[in-house]
Amino acid sequence: MSERRIPPVKPYFPSKDIDQLKADLEVILRSGMLTSWTYMKKFEDLYAKSCQVKHAIAVSSGTSALEITLRCLDVKKGDEVLVPTNTFTSTAAAVFFAGAKPVLTDIDSESLCIDVESVQKNITRKTKGIIAVHIGGLVCPEMRILKETCESRGLFLVEDAAHAHGSSIDRQPAGSLGNVGCFSFYPTKVMTTGEGGMITTNIEGVADKARVLRDQGKENFHSSRIVELGYNWRMSEIGAATGLLQLKRLSEMVESRNKLASYYDRELSQVSEIEPLKVPSNIVSNYYKHVAFLDRGIDREAFKAELKKSGVSCGGEVYWPPLHLQPVYKRLLGTKDGDFPVAEGVCSRMVCLPMYTQMTQNEAEYVIEKVRSVLQS
Ligand SMILES: Cc1ncc(COP(=O)(O)O)c(C=O)c1O
Repeated sequence: MSERRIPPVKPYFPSKDIDQLKADLEVILRSGMLTSWTYMKKFEDLYAKSCQVKHAIAVSSGTSALEITLRCLDVKKGDEVLVPTNTFTSTAAAVFFAGAKPVLTDIDSESLCIDVESVQKNITRKTKGIIAVHIGGLVCPEMRILKETCESRGLFLVEDAAHAHGSSIDRQPAGSLGNVGCFSFYPTKVMTTGEGGMITTNIEGVADKARVLRDQGKENFHSSRIVELGYNWRMSEIGAATGLLQLKRLSEMVESRNKLASYYDRELSQVSEIEPLKVPSNIVSNYYKHVAFLDRGIDREAFKAELKKSGVSCGGEVYWPPLHLQPVYKRLLGTKDGDFPVAEGVCSRMVCLPMYTQMTQNEAEYVIEKVRSVLQS
């Protein structure tokens, strides 16, 4: 076993930010206002600005962002929402939580995002909307077509932007591309609040209802009048203070990840057994994940295990298995092997090399050296 350890992900908190967070913590504790207060408001305002939208609503997680959004868009029993099979469970689970049924679709083999043709085929009278997921930080390249489809058919378009803080397409930020954007600040994400999420929208009615739902259905934070069946989906002030610091670092983090990704791409282009995912030139990915595909016939688990012996840990795939092969969706939706051949084909060959903002050039070189030697053996 190697002495060296390269983890798959690592949050980025330079000492200056840790010192600032300690000072913020003191302010928060002395104020006695521990939730939904001035740090949250500042974080929301800055987040809305960074996404170029009117409203940002801070919540407890990416999952709650999705459920609140669907409830604000009036999703209910009998409705169907189209969801790509290649996503995290929350995207589809939130549809169930909101009372409706997710309908899985296949993905595009190049972007790994929802496939437009599969969407068109699956729209029925029951379809209420579509959730597009920006996989690994790559904004779904077909957002414009999806938006036109939704507008012409009276459907909503939600972005599951859990992976896509700071990503953009044609200079338009993720979170501003559909009717509503949903972000996660889970610790593995490009920016984190420990636990947390954010809803972004230009729709006044959605923003107003989301604020009510996240706070137990109270008319407003100071009221005891309950106007909706809400939940405790609030963000703590400590989470918001953390998020503010991370948000101020977001462009630095995206830049650094892009540099690492360019290095990986350049080096991997000389290795015939592995091919990185291509990012179209009109898209800026935040490289939440650096996705690459192993040649058919290479045993992915053996490849990862060999790398690990040298201290290099790959990140979790985005995603394997896709949802239709997960036991719960097989049970609830009756899906089975072979239902979505594109997702099965590409996702089964996917690997995600270590990626974090503060990774050094020396660490990146070590990763590539080990990838080469494992593939060549
Ligand atoms: C695509 C996607 N959607 C939603 C979520 C849910 O976010 P959270 O874990 O903050 O609830 C995640 C989290 O990993 C995700 O990757």
